[in-house]
Amino acid sequence: MKSVTDCYTLQNGVQIPCIGFGTWQAENGEIAYHAVRDALNAGYRHIDTAAAYGNEASVGRAIRESGIPREEIFLTSKLNNPDHGYEKTMKAFEKTMNELGLDYLDLYLIHWPNPIFFRENWQEANAGTWKAFEELYRAGKIRAIGISNFRRHHIEELLKTAEIAPMVNQIRLCPGDTQDEVVRYCREQNMLLEAYSPFGVGKIFEVPEMKAMAEKYGKSVAQICLRWSLQNGFLPLPKSVTPERIESNTRIFDFTLSEEDMGVISGLTGCVGFAHDPDQISF
Ligand SMILES: NC(=O)c1ccc[n+]([C@@H]2O[C@H](COP(=O)([O-])OP(=O)(O)OC[C@H]3O[C@@H](n4cnc5c(N)ncnc54)[C@H](OP(=O)(O)O)[C@@H]3O)[C@@H](O)[C@H]2O)c1
Repeated sequence: MKSVTDCYTLQNGVQIPCIGFGTWQAENGEIAYHAVRDALNAGYRHIDTAAAYGNEASVGRAIRESGIPREEIFLTSKLNNPDHGYEKTMKAFEKTMNELGLDYLDLYLIHWPNPIFFRENWQEANAGTWKAFEELYRAGKIRAIGISNFRRHHIEELLKTAEIAPMVNQIRLCPGDTQDEVVRYCREQNMLLEAYSPFGVGKIFEVPEMKAMAEKYGKSVAQICLRWSLQNGFLPLPKSVTPERIESNTRIFDFTLSEEDMGVISGLTGCVGFAHDPDQISF
């Protein structure tokens, strides 16, 4: 990879730019709008949003008003937790597209495998959702379909009824939280791993070992995190609403972390906490 627009190839041949711009907690309205406009100006061509973030309207407006042809931007959204099951998924997708003001999505993900609303019947709810995803995919309304926060048992369950396998699993991957078991399984399944919270939602900036690593390479802690992610073959999703950070987070293609330092960073176990257990979430 040499720039933010270089791509991974999904199992269906679709190209996906290797860095995605995160928008969770980028408030709907001027903040999310300007963050996405700034990201597009800085060169990002991959934007990650979700119905649950409440900012699809601003993200869509920023894309529409950017002047960049729609097909040059890769856009992801996610199905909200209360909307699992075939009928609800179909309605939720329509709402997402109305909010965005666009006519297709590049990637649609099931945000969580086991929301509180479906704890008793998550298997059936996910199967219905996936049927809807497959239909929307076949109709050309979504270019790729995937999952988020799924662990091995959730994926195995989904595959029992799926006709099309998920192409992406978006999970929390950051220094000290490497989720080795699910990563290994997704790789066996030829599923691309997207790395969310690549900075541990900002907590990584306080970790002394990471500050030392940044000094050693003459880079920022953020740049070290993103480089670590890419060298692991993940697709990182950095979020920022600050123009200088948005731009500096793209400057990660002019250095390489040594094998030894990759190991040191991976081994900072728990330095910014761990991913939620998706079977225990309260939302
Ligand atoms: N699928 C899921 O369940 C899920 C869950 C969480 C996140 N995600 C996705 O992943 C994206 C990223 O994860 P995240 O939002 O949790 O957090 P993150 O990207 O790990 O961290 C974001 C924080 O880091 C700060 N930051 C960014 N660049 C910086 C820099 N160069 N120097 C110093 N601080 C910097 C940001 O501040 P400012 O914004 O104030 O600049 C913000 O406080 C999300 O936005 C979302 O798209 C998905």
